[in-house]
Parts: sequence; structure tokens; C-alpha cells
Amino acid sequence: MTYKILIPEKIADEGISYLTERGYEIKRGSNTSGEAFAGDLLECDGVIVRSAKVDEAVIKRCERLKVIAKHGVGVDNIDLEAAKKHGKRVVFTPDANACSVAEHAMMLILACAKRLLFMAGSYATGDFAVKNKASASEVRGKTLGLAGIGRIGSLVANMAKYGFGMNILVYDPYVTPERLADGIELASSWDELWTCSDFVSIHMPLTEETEKCVGGAEFALMKSTAYLVNTARGGIVDESALIKALECKKIAGAGLDVTEPEPAHKDNPLFCMDNVILTPHCASGTLESLARMAVDAAQGIDEVLSGRSPSWPIV
Ligand SMILES: NC(=O)c1ccc[n+]([C@@H]2O[C@H](COP(=O)([O-])OP(=O)(O)OC[C@H]3O[C@@H](n4cnc5c(N)ncnc54)[C@H](O)[C@@H]3O)[C@@H](O)[C@H]2O)c1
Repeated sequence: MTYKILIPEKIADEGISYLTERGYEIKRGSNTSGEAFAGDLLECDGVIVRSAKVDEAVIKRCERLKVIAKHGVGVDNIDLEAAKKHGKRVVFTPDANACSVAEHAMMLILACAKRLLFMAGSYATGDFAVKNKASASEVRGKTLGLAGIGRIGSLVANMAKYGFGMNILVYDPYVTPERLADGIELASSWDELWTCSDFVSIHMPLTEETEKCVGGAEFALMKSTAYLVNTARGGIVDESALIKALECKKIAGAGLDVTEPEPAHKDNPLFCMDNVILTPHCASGTLESLARMAVDAAQGIDEVLSGRSPSWPIV
């Protein structure tokens, strides 16, 4: 029997080759939601999704479906409970993109500190003297607060500590001090993270618990010279509270790879602020990471459909 795999979004060729070389039939599609997506999925045994929403209605209806592979890490677009209930396996690609996202977070931290957008933007309009405005700062010796220290947070901690001489303060209710690398300090509370950091970088998943957990109260605690960096999920931050904090200069700026919704509306005030860097959810979009995510997702599909234990299971 030939298994059929739906690939509704663009993935690297390496992932497609991985499956075709092993005898899978590929169904390409462009529908990522609603009736059309469900219709495509009805005739498939597996699916690789990036942001396509796999909800309970789809999972329940697609009886032939056996495995859902998430191309990436954030599985908030897949109803995991429903998958479990209806006997579908879910796999993801946790090892594939952590380095790219960590580098992106580090880049945003540095770009904020160096006021990259403001400097480059002013120079582009002929203002060479902007260099004398002395608004940039060093990161060495500054405190980087990490909200979440899993795969990505740990890499950022390592880069920031050993590459740039930053002090690392972590809030993560699911890690114990023994699990932290030497020299990384666990904050005694959520509030301490916001009060004591010069930069706070978010690296936790979007869940019911974390939705909009960064808002007015957190910005009120931050130093007026501090920056927020978010490469996790837009839904973790209360965006209107962030805009307010930036407008009234409660915080110094922000580096954001994610917003809620995505794409952000073209009139979003964040686009017009010279102390805000907004990238289009591209942190994991390096050539290396895209190839790894495609291959790891394809491998997960193959492992499940050929009866082996998946290397990166979720459900
Ligand atoms: N921008 C991108 O392109 C991109 C790419 C990959 C991942 N991501 C996002 O980054 C997130 C982190 O990825 P990861 O691979 O490091 O995940 P991970 O599961 O390895 O780490 C997440 C960490 O967050 C911690 N955590 C959970 N709830 C928390 C809370 N309430 N407060 C503080 N910490 C909490 C967990 O204990 C864990 O240590 C993903 O969930 C995903 O949404 C974004």
C-alpha cells in the first residue's frame, strides 16, 4: 500500500525527497484551513503542517489520517488533545530550528542595544551626525532576562553569557536550579525578572497559561532603559499594552519576530516606531533550519507509518 502525505505549505525540497525516495506519494495543496483543507486531508495518511490549523473537526473527520508532523516547534496550531483522543500521532522538529531562533533573538537584542533601525534609517535620509546622538549601549555586563529556558532559551543564554559577557536571569517555573548551567541565575519571582533585566527575551510556549501574560503590569515593572524581545509567539504579549508602554516611553524599545495576528496589520503603530524592530516571523527561516525542519518532519512521518518509534513524538 502506498501512503499519501499532504504538504499544503512550502517546505524545503530535501523533505519532499526524503519521502518520495521511501515510496510515499505526495499531495501538494495550497489550502490551509476550512473545508478545502479538510477535503485535501481526507484522502491522506499523513500531513506536514507549518501554520495550517489542525483542529478537532478536521482530526475527527479524517479517518485515514494517522500522523500529523509539525514543521517547527510551536504546536499551538494543532489540537493535541483531539489528536490523542482520535488516535493520531503528532510529531515535531525540536532539534531543527533552535539555533536559528536563538541567533535571531541575539540579533534583535544587539539591534535594540545599538539602535540599528534608528541609526541606519537616519543615515539613509542623509543624517550622518546621528552618530553623535549617543543613544546606543553596550550589552556587556547588562542583565538579560529569559522568560523560559528550554532549547532556544538555553542557547540564547549561552551565546549572551559566553559570547557577549551578559548576566543571565531566568524565570521558568518548570526548571530547577540544578538543571541550569553554571552562572545562570534563577529569578526568585516573575516580577524580579521584569524589574531587574535590561533586556527580557521570551522563550516559552503559547498556552492558556501564557496567553497575554506579558502586559501592562510587566511593562510597569521594567526599567525605562529596558527592551523587550519576543521570538516565541505574539499571543504571549498584550500588544496594546506594549504599544502604550512604547508610546509613553515606559520602556526603551522592542525587537519582535512575532505578533498576534500575523501578518500584523499594515497600520499597526509598531511599524512606525524607530525603537521597534519587527521581523516577519522569520527567526527559524534560515536555509539550514528550513532544510532540517523539512527532513525531520518527513522522518517523523516515515517513522510512524513504518511502525517505528518516532524520534520526536508529542502525542
Ligand atoms: N519565531 C520562530 O520562528 C520560532 C521558531 C521556533 C520556536 N518558536 C517559539 O519558541 C518557543 C520556545 O521554543 P523551545 O524550542 O525553546 O521550546 P522548549 O519547550 O524547549 O522550551 C520552552 C520553555 O518554556 C518554559 N515555560 C513553559 N511555561 C512557562 C511559563 N509560564 N513561564 C516561563 N517559562 C515557561 C518550559 O519550562 C520550557 O523550559 C516555542 O514554543 C515556539 O512558540 C518560535
